[in-house]
Amino acid sequence: MMIWIMHMKTDLPLTADAERVARSTQLSASSTRYRDPLAAINWDGLDLDAAWLPESLLSLHGLDAAAGLSAMQLRALSRCEFVSFCELGLWLEALFMQKLSGHVLSHIANDPAGYGYQLHELREEVGHSLMFLELHRRAGLGFMTPPDRRPALARWFARLAPHDSLAFWAAILIGEDVPDRFARAITADPALPEPVRAITRLHAREEARHIAYARAMVHERAARLPAWRKRALAPLLGEVMRQFLRSCFFPAASTYRAAGLADPGFWARAARANPHRIALMHRCAAPARTFLHAQGIPV
Ligand SMILES: [Fe+2]
Ligand SMILES: [Fe+2]
Repeated sequence: MMIWIMHMKTDLPLTADAERVARSTQLSASSTRYRDPLAAINWDGLDLDAAWLPESLLSLHGLDAAAGLSAMQLRALSRCEFVSFCELGLWLEALFMQKLSGHVLSHIANDPAGYGYQLHELREEVGHSLMFLELHRRAGLGFMTPPDRRPALARWFARLAPHDSLAFWAAILIGEDVPDRFARAITADPALPEPVRAITRLHAREEARHIAYARAMVHERAARLPAWRKRALAPLLGEVMRQFLRSCFFPAASTYRAAGLADPGFWARAARANPHRIALMHRCAAPARTFLHAQGIPV
């Protein structure tokens, strides 16, 4: 049943309409000013002892139990949580690139402008992943959350949701829009090392286009589906979103271990019950939720 719901495709016309071509062409024009992120970041300016996240974005922020942690421990935790956030980016981008590159050929004939734009997205995601990987290497923390430790349903969904379906683009939108809200708070903090802000700023600038494209893809497909089919998809997508949010906002115990905190399992559980963190998660998820609700998908 669920497989059938996910495979529901819309009856898009074979030829691209003028609006779609104009959108892809405009987004491609913005992507043309591409610069390799590896070359754009001043890597040597990365302070390996500084905080890499504002304290308000730490998973333990606001907890009484965290009041006893030293400034040095909090800085170490902030670096681990920032790297953990970039690991999430690496995982999502690998799934997206895999899916997109496996199907992008089908667009050459019926939507060349869309094909061109998706190639821009692929190039940008490759750049992001190289950038995250370089940060990862320099941080020297090892992988705190290997891809096979990510939520099973999200991994299953990423593999089976058909490319270009409503389910696929809605999942992409969630995976891009939610972390983007978190990233904006990082770029806004002038106290963070410039390379950390540059990584986040560069990523957010290019993701803004990806999010705009994903929203348009969702809107286009949702408009062509009857309400009952969208409602049928909502519970599955809602669960994917919940699993994704848990993975995004609640670091694994290995992250606290990498930060050198004693009893990492205790801190992972404390973060999951942290009302400040839960509120931040809901604030970051709200725009994607509101948008999907408006499209008839109450996640
Ligand atoms: Fe990205
Ligand atoms: Fe993206």
